[in-house]
Amino acid sequence: MDALKVLKERRSVRKYLSKPVPKEIIEDIIDCGRLAATARNIQPWHFVVITDEERKKHIADITDNGKFIAQAPVCVAVLCEDTKYILEDGSAATQNILLAAKAHGLGSCWIAGHKKPYAAEIEQYLNAPESCKLISLIAIGYAEQESNAAKKDLSAVLHWEQF
Ligand SMILES: Cc1cc2nc3c(=O)[nH]c(=O)nc-3n(C[C@H](O)[C@H](O)[C@H](O)COP(=O)(O)O)c2cc1C
Repeated sequence: MDALKVLKERRSVRKYLSKPVPKEIIEDIIDCGRLAATARNIQPWHFVVITDEERKKHIADITDNGKFIAQAPVCVAVLCEDTKYILEDGSAATQNILLAAKAHGLGSCWIAGHKKPYAAEIEQYLNAPESCKLISLIAIGYAEQESNAAKKDLSAVLHWEQF
């Protein structure tokens, strides 16, 4: 799919078909995540892919607004070494994953991790080292229904030369 079309048409998906996602596609999506921009090229990220039904359900139960992870065929946890630009780097990788999923004809949704009180519980459940912090959880799968969240008009947010 054309890159601009992917950027403009990506929307959060919270309802998925039960159709499984081929492993090669998951790997390619993660490959796009690890190629994201990263401060000082530190690449602090690790990606944990969870497809086991019970493990997805456990993670879904820990979250507040991510219960639909249980129904998504794939959940990706983006974790980063606790470096200065952890949040920027981890977010760049997360966005790459959302866009790569869209390019593969899949839906996805970013589920908050870093600032959530449940972050430590997920880190422990995934057996992450102490130095690695959860940035995001990403549900991925073939879409049954896409969000139609309203977007601000370009004219409301674009400023030329000064605010
Ligand atoms: C940092 C961040 C945290 C988010 N956390 C959640 C979440 O916990 N649960 C959820 O359903 N959506 C979550 N979202 C998705 C947003 O709700 C969604 O991107 C927003 O409503 C805009 O809709 P769109 O993605 O369809 O453009 C999160 C998005 C971001 C960037």
